[in-house]
Amino acid sequence: MRKAFQELFLSNPCAMILVAADTEEVINVNDSFMALTGYDRKVVTGQKIDVLGEMISIKDFTRLKKLLIHNQSVQGYQCRFTIQPKRTGTALINVRYLTIHKKITVLITIVDVTENAELRDHIDRLSCLNLVGQLAASIGHEIRNPMTTVRGYLRFMQKKLDFTGYDEQFTMMIQELDRANAIITDFLALAKNRVNGFAIQNINDIIQDISPLMEAMASEMGHHITFDLGQVPNSLLDKIDIHKALINLVKNGFEAMDGKGTVIVRTYKKEDCIVLQVEDEGKGIPKEIVDKLGTPFYTTKEKGTGLGLSVCNEIANRHNAILEIKTSAAGSIFSLAFPCKEYIKKKA
Ligand SMILES: Nc1ncnc2c1ncn2[C@@H]1O[C@H](COP(=O)(O)OP(=O)(O)O)[C@@H](O)[C@H]1O
Ligand SMILES: [Mg+2]
Repeated sequence: MRKAFQELFLSNPCAMILVAADTEEVINVNDSFMALTGYDRKVVTGQKIDVLGEMISIKDFTRLKKLLIHNQSVQGYQCRFTIQPKRTGTALINVRYLTIHKKITVLITIVDVTENAELRDHIDRLSCLNLVGQLAASIGHEIRNPMTTVRGYLRFMQKKLDFTGYDEQFTMMIQELDRANAIITDFLALAKNRVNGFAIQNINDIIQDISPLMEAMASEMGHHITFDLGQVPNSLLDKIDIHKALINLVKNGFEAMDGKGTVIVRTYKKEDCIVLQVEDEGKGIPKEIVDKLGTPFYTTKEKGTGLGLSVCNEIANRHNAILEIKTSAAGSIFSLAFPCKEYIKKKA
């Protein structure tokens, strides 16, 4: 039994410390504890439990110690921890009293739940954003009705003899209303609960539509953009989605390049797919970051939102497309492969 306990203790994936209840001295720590905290078993063993106090706040430590003095077991006590030099996270602490060799011993288990806590935060933020988006979409919709009335009366009055001489002003008012209306239309198209904008069309036309915008972005950021659009068949695409994905990928490409660089936007047909590719001459993406790409709010930029690639992922999903990333020190290539027979399936 003793051996079984020892094995369970040492190989447990949760960080564990065994402390003598009377002297408050650490009897042993397991491998997971060493991996989590960076403390060496030899250094910690025999020391006072106060070693834990260096990891958690004084408030949490005092509270836990108080419970321990009163011989109370603790289950799932959540607190923040800091490990030198810079890692912070969230942990659940459990404390159990055991009798080992007739001596009362305290078993402290630390479960690192940092990732869960961060994910929960992200989900909370996302649902908040979603709600704001829905609210904004319905407000946008409501604003259009009164605008239509105002526009109608402006047109009506413009034709009246009483207002001759004011034609220019009326035209300007109507144009401004149309502009506001166009902004709302674009926004509603971007909002999640918009009507499905899928249509059979050519991806090259969609790209050409916004090429001036991308060229303007390039010159503003001191870079070049070139287009290498191959012969591709029409397919079922959502124009606004493709615009959004392309702008995000191209912008990331520009932002990844120091000095003057070129981003290439390419399309070509490969087997049953139409590939949209954005290539940059940036510094590439470190391996440990590649796995995190597409996680909402994950960004390495000071002013980044970390939403660009999540949006691209969502767009890829909606189109049954696959987003692939190739990266090296010479630059990165983001490819979106759209199945070109897709519209036949969707129609069925
Ligand atoms: N072309 C690229 N080259 C290098 N890193 C990139 C590239 N595209 C994306 N990344 C990395 O992915 C992260 C997330 O990108 P994104 O979701 O667009 O958010 P943001 O651009 O706001 O940071 C970026 O912060 C950057 O670290
Ligand atoms: Mg981005």
